[in-house]
Amino acid sequence: MHIFLDTANIDQIRQAARLGIISGVTTNPSLLSKEATSDYETVTKTICSIIGGPVSVEVLAEDAESMIEEARLKASWAPNVNIKIPITADGLQAMTVLSKENIKVNMTLCFSVNQALLSALAGATYVSPFVGRLDDIGHDGMQLVKDIIDVYKNYPHLSTQVIAASLRHPLHCIAAAKAGAHIATVPYNVLMQMIQHPLTDIGIKRFLADWKSVSK
Ligand code: G3P
Repeated sequence: MHIFLDTANIDQIRQAARLGIISGVTTNPSLLSKEATSDYETVTKTICSIIGGPVSVEVLAEDAESMIEEARLKASWAPNVNIKIPITADGLQAMTVLSKENIKVNMTLCFSVNQALLSALAGATYVSPFVGRLDDIGHDGMQLVKDIIDVYKNYPHLSTQVIAASLRHPLHCIAAAKAGAHIATVPYNVLMQMIQHPLTDIGIKRFLADWKSVSK
């Protein structure tokens, strides 16, 4: 399973990139708003200069024609830009046109297997089931990830990759990996939680203390 970083924060992306384990970044308008900027182009170009892998950039238009135009423009910002499009009838229509132009699309706001199936049929490179938001309303978000993967496996010609998104804690990441998600996109704080373990910290302290006791 690949790990993407789910943020538009440049400092966090720089720090995570140094770890050498991040293969892409996903953004959305809400994440941009947290950075108090509406300059999506500058932020995207900066992220793409740090991360060579796929960087998902969301369209704001709601009708198919405008989505296509916006996607073409945003895809021109950098070679590794992927376009995030919400799964609606207009989104699928736009997806179908963009896939013929080799523009990679991440179909987002996925909350059902049917939405994931239709996204794959329209030629999506990625589909993003939002695990945490389903959990929020009392549904089993990770079950959706498992079901999508099971259905895709029945049809090997479908090449759409599943990005487990809206992940809120490290257990979500383990469950996504067990489910066979191709990618987990995680907020920076969750990435840090994935690294840390109190026994590792205690172990380091003990090793150093034992070493000091004999190396005077
Ligand atoms: O990748 C999607 C993600 O940004 C949504 O997360 O926590 O707003 O549901 P959240």
